[in-house]
Amino acid sequence: EDFLRILERIESGQELDRSDILYLLSTQREKEINTIFSAADRIRKETVGDAVEIRGAIEFSNYCRKDCSYCGIGSSNKCVKRYSMSEEEIMEAVHSVKAMGMKTVILQSGEDSRWDTPRLVRLVERIRNETGMKITLSVGEKSREEYEQLRNAGAVNFLLKIETTNRDLFARLHPDDDYDHRLQCSLWLKELGYLNGSGNIIGLPGQTLDDIAGDILYFKEMGINMIGIGPFIPAEGSRLENHPTGDIDLTLRVVAVTRIVCKRVYIPSTTALASLDKDAQVKALQAGANTIMLINTPERYRKSYNIYNNKNMVDMASAAYAAEKAGRPLPSYIVWQAVNPGHECIVG
Ligand code: 5AD
Repeated sequence: EDFLRILERIESGQELDRSDILYLLSTQREKEINTIFSAADRIRKETVGDAVEIRGAIEFSNYCRKDCSYCGIGSSNKCVKRYSMSEEEIMEAVHSVKAMGMKTVILQSGEDSRWDTPRLVRLVERIRNETGMKITLSVGEKSREEYEQLRNAGAVNFLLKIETTNRDLFARLHPDDDYDHRLQCSLWLKELGYLNGSGNIIGLPGQTLDDIAGDILYFKEMGINMIGIGPFIPAEGSRLENHPTGDIDLTLRVVAVTRIVCKRVYIPSTTALASLDKDAQVKALQAGANTIMLINTPERYRKSYNIYNNKNMVDMASAAYAAEKAGRPLPSYIVWQAVNPGHECIVG
């Protein structure tokens, strides 16, 4: 039988092909679905262990020169109140991330010309010198030279999602982008020695399970290190504002199958999942995910980084809640009671 053959391949560490992956994404048999989730949970444990890695994200600008049809901060959305943080404001936020014990800070923004590469280079150098933290950048498409300058300045991780590997769908969603160029950017990042982050959105218009199987194979074949998988959520003022929300259970299934196929990678339990349902973040941790990204954007700007509607504020308290409920420890270096004096510390 199909499933038993696939299961055998999983257990014996053999690679799955596209039709195997499609089967795992499609099956509606309860027993098979449970087996997929427990295999993913086991592989997560064997490859990256039990600790839930926590990182702090600072969304430092919502100006964007691009106009992706799903995104709430696209350039044509006139309802967005635009902000671009100063270096001093960013440093203050970075120091508060460090104070919570986190080792990695994620700097994310739209493609903002105010934050050109020379300015970003100075910021990265300053964060390295003042805090010694690891830096993840999520600032979109740049030239190879620019990626190299940022790498030399001390950034070690880069998140640039492919969003979908269906070329026609990619083209329809991204009026300002070219699929082959996005691929090229990701290859440059890899060549330059960044830990390479990608990911997709589940529930895009016309997206099929076969497309998603292709996404998972792409992550595997490209040697992607960090894979962010989130449900589509409509964003007010975007061209897809009336398109239905992506399915949570399918998103969890994609997390599980990605863990099974890609094995030793970072998979966040995404903010998009948390925004739809508080317990979806717990379920993702039990389906193969192993990291959580906190939102450390200053309060006064958070509402304006509305890449989709009702974006949840994932803070240390909600991350600790999700980790505890999933029966998984936070790393011992997390010191969140220091900044949340009202809460009891659940970590050693
Ligand atoms: N729904 C879900 N995810 C979205 N993103 C942007 N807009 C949406 C949306 N409407 C995701 C993209 C991007 C990441 C920062 O946020 O995958 O890479």
